[in-house]
Amino acid sequence: MTGNTVFDYLLIGVFVAAVVSALSLIFIDAPYGRHKKGGWGPTINTRLGWVLMESPASLVFLYFFVVGDNNTSIVSLILLVMWQSHYFHRSFIYPFQIKVKPGDRVPVMVIFMGGSYCAINGFLNGSYISTYAEHLDDQWLTDPRFALGIILFCFGYYLNKKSDQILRDLRKDSTEGYKIPYGLGYKYVSMPNYLGEILTWTGFALAAWSLAGVSFVIFTMANLVPRAITNHKWYLETFSDYPKDRKAIFPKIL
Ligand SMILES: NC(=O)c1ccc[n+]([C@@H]2O[C@H](COP(=O)([O-])OP(=O)(O)OC[C@H]3O[C@@H](n4cnc5c(N)ncnc54)[C@H](OP(=O)(O)O)[C@@H]3O)[C@@H](O)[C@H]2O)c1
Repeated sequence: MTGNTVFDYLLIGVFVAAVVSALSLIFIDAPYGRHKKGGWGPTINTRLGWVLMESPASLVFLYFFVVGDNNTSIVSLILLVMWQSHYFHRSFIYPFQIKVKPGDRVPVMVIFMGGSYCAINGFLNGSYISTYAEHLDDQWLTDPRFALGIILFCFGYYLNKKSDQILRDLRKDSTEGYKIPYGLGYKYVSMPNYLGEILTWTGFALAAWSLAGVSFVIFTMANLVPRAITNHKWYLETFSDYPKDRKAIFPKIL
């Protein structure tokens, strides 16, 4: 806790929202991708939707990082690079890499809810690092938590990006339809891209040693674990030859 009322209440709000999201996703499938259905109000072009939903995490983080006092220490700059290496890619490159049908659309409600969270998340993590954290000085460079966090972040980043690329390669000849993915983390789980995302942000939270980072890990898990379970079930029901020894998201566990 920082003593700043807005920051502290938003942080508590994210933990509460994570619980609400996880409970809701047990009963409702988020209506995008293979679980898309009508009845969710107005829709928006899918690529534009991704840009609008994810870019607040990149831009709001950058703004609050820059206006804070600790924006030139090596540690804070490394954390900035880690954050932006994921979010610049996710906001401005990934939306133009995915294979979508021409004219594909997603509900505005999904984009609004995701974008609102991304803005809050960018504020919490950007301002924590450059305004509220007192430990992110040059001494932190030699702390094992910083080194371990960076290693975990890099592993998660690679797993996430490579797994997403394997999915894109399944649509080399067509912009729609689903096939069974193989290779890398798909040997063990149906959604290694989600596992990579969770490891990425666990590494970031460890490197920054912050509750804001932990709130992001919990929120990510609250969204991705239920969806991974749903997608795993969908794979098993859709493909009779789906590998039976694969788990949903955590190898050998779930
Ligand atoms: N931090 C968070 O809370 C959070 C939340 C959501 C997503 N994400 C990240 O955002 C990225 C995308 O998430 P997502 O939920 O869209 O992932 P996804 O369901 O795995 O889909 C990723 C892309 O691959 C396509 N695809 C999926 N399975 C396929 C298959 N078997 N054959 C061919 N194409 C396939 C999808 O097409 P369709 O769209 O047509 O299904 C989509 O374009 C992931 O890296 C994820 O970790 C993060």
